[in-house]
Amino acid sequence: MTMKGGTGKTTTAVCLSHGLSLAGKRVLLVDCDPQRSAATSFGVKGERGLAELLTSGEVDILQVRDNLFFIDSGGRRLAEVELVLGSHENRERRLSEALKHLKGCDYVICDCSPSLNLININALVYCDEVIIPVSMDYLAERGATETAGIIEEIHAFNSRKPISFRLLPTFYDSRTRLAHRVLEDLRERFGDRLLTTVIRMNQAIKEAPGQQKTIFEHAPLSRGAFDYYHLTEEILGRDRPGESRVGESQGS
Ligand SMILES: Nc1ncnc2c1ncn2[C@@H]1O[C@H](COP(=O)(O)OP(=O)(O)OP(=O)(O)O)[C@@H](O)[C@H]1O
Ligand SMILES: [Mg+2]
Repeated sequence: MTMKGGTGKTTTAVCLSHGLSLAGKRVLLVDCDPQRSAATSFGVKGERGLAELLTSGEVDILQVRDNLFFIDSGGRRLAEVELVLGSHENRERRLSEALKHLKGCDYVICDCSPSLNLININALVYCDEVIIPVSMDYLAERGATETAGIIEEIHAFNSRKPISFRLLPTFYDSRTRLAHRVLEDLRERFGDRLLTTVIRMNQAIKEAPGQQKTIFEHAPLSRGAFDYYHLTEEILGRDRPGESRVGESQGS
């Protein structure tokens, strides 16, 4: 699995969650990263987070916007929980078990960290679909291919259902030849697993978390807002009715 970080996973998790909630869907965003970047983007902190959910079964579900709910990761405690879980039975299904009785959400979105760890495997086992953000550079392209392979391996031991994945081009800068080439390569290799939406490089996207706003609030007329609006529409358009769980994987 790629260890490459910074490809737009948290940004996509936050913006897509907010986009879907603005479209009237009820959304739960779960921060699966001890770094707590999603929590920081919203400026919130849950006392009991994913770490507690996976151990004691107790958790604070915070409402961060209309229709948008959030579970903190628990920060460093989540990294500790991972060590404890390692020796448990059914260790890769703990998240699925914990959220089994969750009702009333149209989408559950998990923001993963950039590593192959047990928490991320739990998220992959739980989710119906994985979005792998791929920044337009060579290492990210390699990372995405590796991640796709790992998803297939996880599917092999988790025969409950197939895990489908789609790739989302991010940090696209049309002025560079590299961006064009990477996008072409991805299209050739992954065909229609590549989402139509392309997220362009955009300064407003970078600024938004510092204001504890999403791109739709910070700069609603920016390219970033346009691209994430487009992504929201694409996800809404293709999904079947009913609940769907989307994981932002460590793809790169
Ligand atoms: N399209 C974009 N244009 C410009 N900056 C962006 C864009 N997308 C994300 N960023 C910025 O790039 C940085 C990394 O993005 P983000 O945190 O979403 O990546 P990540 O994949 O979650 O990282 P990690 O692997 O560490 O979890 C952040 O500062 C974010 O604001
Ligand atoms: Mg992140």
